[in-house]
Amino acid sequence: MAFVIGNWKMNLNVADSSLLVERLAQHIQHSRHDVVLCPSFVALHSVHKMLQDRGLNGLFSLGAQNMYFMDEGAFTGEVSPLMLKDLVEFVILGHSERRQHFGEGDELIAKKLAAALRHDLRPILCVGETLAEHEAGEAQRTVQDQLATDLADITTDDASELLIAYEPIWAIGTGNFARPEDAESMFVHIRHFLTERYGSETANRIALLYGGSVDDQNAAAFMAIADCGGLLVGGASLNYEKFATIANA
Ligand code: PGA
Repeated sequence: MAFVIGNWKMNLNVADSSLLVERLAQHIQHSRHDVVLCPSFVALHSVHKMLQDRGLNGLFSLGAQNMYFMDEGAFTGEVSPLMLKDLVEFVILGHSERRQHFGEGDELIAKKLAAALRHDLRPILCVGETLAEHEAGEAQRTVQDQLATDLADITTDDASELLIAYEPIWAIGTGNFARPEDAESMFVHIRHFLTERYGSETANRIALLYGGSVDDQNAAAFMAIADCGGLLVGGASLNYEKFATIANA
């Protein structure tokens, strides 16, 4: 079983979010995969209620797209793990759009990871290189540096709850997805890093996902990678036919 995660990003109001869930429920009756939907904060509660009321929580799990690391307090506009833990099982952290547009660095992401785990939320940690780093042959070093800081405070006990998504920044939203063989060698590199850090038993429990212009046409090629634990899907997750095709495969 693998994870098929839909990151809806800053799209869909409350009504449109419900409509998408409705359509997905019509088109995904069973999935071999753990299908995780990540609506906006604004729509999370209504989608959560809809999954409960309609008995769809066996079919879909929920994730948030971000969170702050403090439990509560004077942090205007932020959302805490305490607010999320009744609603979601997963939380995306360190997404490249958070890093690029909102200046999130690895030290902050490390605090968020620790906070999520402290509150029994499963983090989906995103890492990946820029186009310049890719072209300079520095992808593996970049990802390793990100992981080293992001995971600095994560103990072996907690690490098995993690999911790590390799998302090359140049592949996100561009239609220009990574070659599966390049994603595969990055998985080997990440798995090696995790094994050195946590030992093979824990490291092997951490799901490695690919993200970056995944759609219904290329999903199977990434799923076929030996160590692929799933997919993080952005744009195509807003299209119920495409997302259902990926989840039903
Ligand atoms: P994309 O986004 O599928 O639209 O490239 C992926 C992501 O940002 O998680």
